[in-house]
Amino acid sequence: MTNRKYTAISLFAGVGGICLGFKNAGVDIIWANDIDKNACKTYRNNFSHTIVEGKIEDIKTEDIPYADILLFGFPCTSFSIAGYQKGFEDEKSGHLFFEALRVIKDKKPQVFLLENVKNLVGHDSGNTFSVIKNELNNEGYHFRYQVLNSMEYGNVPQNRERIYVVGFRNKSFCDKFYFPDPIKLTNSIEDITKPYEKKDDKYYYDNSKYYDMLKETITKKNTVYQLRRVYVRENKKGVSPTLTANMGTGGHNVPLILDDYGIRKLTPYECFMLQGFPHTYKLPDNMADSHLYKQAGNSVTVTVIERIANNIVDILKDNKY
Ligand SMILES: C[S@@+](CC[C@H](N)C(=O)[O-])C[C@H]1O[C@@H](n2cnc3c(N)ncnc32)[C@H](O)[C@@H]1O
Repeated sequence: MTNRKYTAISLFAGVGGICLGFKNAGVDIIWANDIDKNACKTYRNNFSHTIVEGKIEDIKTEDIPYADILLFGFPCTSFSIAGYQKGFEDEKSGHLFFEALRVIKDKKPQVFLLENVKNLVGHDSGNTFSVIKNELNNEGYHFRYQVLNSMEYGNVPQNRERIYVVGFRNKSFCDKFYFPDPIKLTNSIEDITKPYEKKDDKYYYDNSKYYDMLKETITKKNTVYQLRRVYVRENKKGVSPTLTANMGTGGHNVPLILDDYGIRKLTPYECFMLQGFPHTYKLPDNMADSHLYKQAGNSVTVTVIERIANNIVDILKDNKY
């Protein structure tokens, strides 16, 4: 058993959902990067080290510090085997995995965590994931992966399935690693939305052209509905549907609830709470809601990450690494 403090760096860090989960598990986040200036602003509001703003493609590996753990929840990949054969330069975001690989090759961190959409495994008939696995194997990593739903593993009322891949350079560490067990969901939508509290008028839909349609469908308080382009979908499980990056914009995927004052959108703060952020997490003043909705939808569920991070830290400590 060792008590040394482990370090991590985070690529595609967004507002720091993964960073916060690892920080809560006692890991020191020493460096992070993201291209989005508004996400960086929110990140800086909550972490004492400075996130580097800019394209990862423009950052030299020698300018990135070594850390025990590399974190990368990269944008949902668009690459295909055809793109791979042609070279990833043609692709919009597929090449970003190779940017992370560049850092892995150079820094050789002891552990990595990769997070992505559930269908990363099935994308392009499994070819995309094969490429990822082969590349990581070639770099000498042993890994495990699992799809975890935030409402089953993070005690947040959000139906969000994501794949988590945890890799170790040391095979025996990997053999000992396990993903957390499911836990009981004790936090409800109403715990987060507090229906007795009136929110800012701008969130209510009383004057919306959709109001009559919404009033017919939105009848229960302890669930989140989703306004698609022309209809409303109720989540039957009494949880929120997966929050998405585009949920703040023009009648698409907008999460709605009924409270004591009417039908309204979730506030950005509530969306962060549904992603397992703590009440102490500070959203910047004067940032447009559209940026904040995007940041919450792009983020990971902090409480799921924290549980994975605890298991990783336990392995490192037990093995006196
Ligand atoms: C799915 S989000 C990641 C969420 C994040 N890992 C977390 O912990 O909450 C993907 C992020 O990648 C960033 N991104 C996209 N292209 C990038 C690039 N070329 N260089 C750096 N960051 C990029 C986006 O701005 C976005 O914040």
